[in-house]
Amino acid sequence: MARVLHIEDDPHSRRLVSKLLVRAGHEVFDTESGLEGVRLARRVRPELVLVDINVPDLDGYEVTLRLRSIRELDGVPVVAITAEGDRQTSLAVGADGFITKPIDARRFADTIAGFLGGHREAADDTGELKLREQSQRIVGHLEQKVGELLEANARLEEMARLRREFLQNVSHELATPMTPVVGYLKLLIDGELGPLTGLQRKCLASIERSTRRLRSVTDTLLDVSALESGRMQFSDRDYDFADLASQAVAEVQASARDTLTWTIVPSPTPLPTTGDPEKVRRAMVHVLDNATKFTPDGGEVVVEVRAEGPLHWLLVADGGPGIPGSLRERIFEPFFQADGSVTRQHGGVGLGLAFARQVTEAFGGGVEVQSPPEEDVGGRRLSGTLVRLGVARARHLRPPA
Ligand SMILES: Nc1ncnc2c1ncn2[C@@H]1O[C@H](COP(=O)(O)OP(=O)(O)OP(=O)(O)O)[C@@H](O)[C@H]1O
Ligand SMILES: [Mg+2]
Repeated sequence: MARVLHIEDDPHSRRLVSKLLVRAGHEVFDTESGLEGVRLARRVRPELVLVDINVPDLDGYEVTLRLRSIRELDGVPVVAITAEGDRQTSLAVGADGFITKPIDARRFADTIAGFLGGHREAADDTGELKLREQSQRIVGHLEQKVGELLEANARLEEMARLRREFLQNVSHELATPMTPVVGYLKLLIDGELGPLTGLQRKCLASIERSTRRLRSVTDTLLDVSALESGRMQFSDRDYDFADLASQAVAEVQASARDTLTWTIVPSPTPLPTTGDPEKVRRAMVHVLDNATKFTPDGGEVVVEVRAEGPLHWLLVADGGPGIPGSLRERIFEPFFQADGSVTRQHGGVGLGLAFARQVTEAFGGGVEVQSPPEEDVGGRRLSGTLVRLGVARARHLRPPA
């Protein structure tokens, strides 16, 4: 009984070989791809490898050459198994034998036992020529792949440019009509266009809430588009980080569900710094908004503001579901959401953290995520996520890349 790796793209042949090998008492690992075959060979350390010559990605000759360069597989027989491949080329690149398709099912198990027992086919004296021809084919293959990669890269760059332009256009197209809507709504609510009935007031309040939500999405789209194209203008003035954080908390609390429990530990002293308080406040709102959005009813949000080393920090911990380790960096990519499906439970476009990170980095800080939290916030250790948002204490303005 031996571990046999079989690399073959035709499912019918794969099944047949597997059946014959299992019947002879062997353990079979198979794959339809040459690249995956090389990976599997390293992992399962087979005692024999059967490789079809006409597999996609790396062909059988290339796989054999590659397997021969892996020291742990020294001495492991590699046998080509093919209808069209060339025996002498297979032997020249390092195969130990050659089985012609269609397979002779009655003799197959014995042939395999022979290779496992040490049988090796000898190459004839065309080996050097075959090897050279094979090297030339590999270089041709490589040339074609490099060409394809360059083309694919150019297409990706073009798509990235279109995406940037789309983001820019769509954010302007959405933001522009908002201006008169917001303006007239305010006039109506303030009673400047005539007295209102109670019912009208209620309707307008509802319209206003929806408009605010729409406004916040278009603002984020505009911000991220401006940051991506390097057109974002930052103001540069003195402000108190601690005070700004209190404003951001108050803003988020005002519209958060009242089923959450809040603990807020403000900074004991003012935290003066310099930068663009409007944008930093929006970054804070995004982080706080996430904590409230992802924490289920009855859950907790703990906020603490403090100075630490050269930075001022806003720490926001929540009792929500947390973020899987594999996604902890990806959530900072524009539009990435851990749950991007249409059936997801929470709203949003996936731009909040991208914006928050870029703005804070422009002011010498950044945004970090721990899930589950690795430190106490407000003297407590919650189970969900801790997001730390920091900016430098001292003046620091670096234009975003
Ligand atoms: N506190 C958190 N708990 C759990 N998951 C989070 C938390 N904060 C962020 N995430 C995950 O990171 C993703 C990206 O967050 P981000 O704020 O960038 O976008 P969003 O909240 O989905 O949309 P937007 O902020 O644009 O309204 C979220 O969709 C969510 O999957
Ligand atoms: Mg968000």
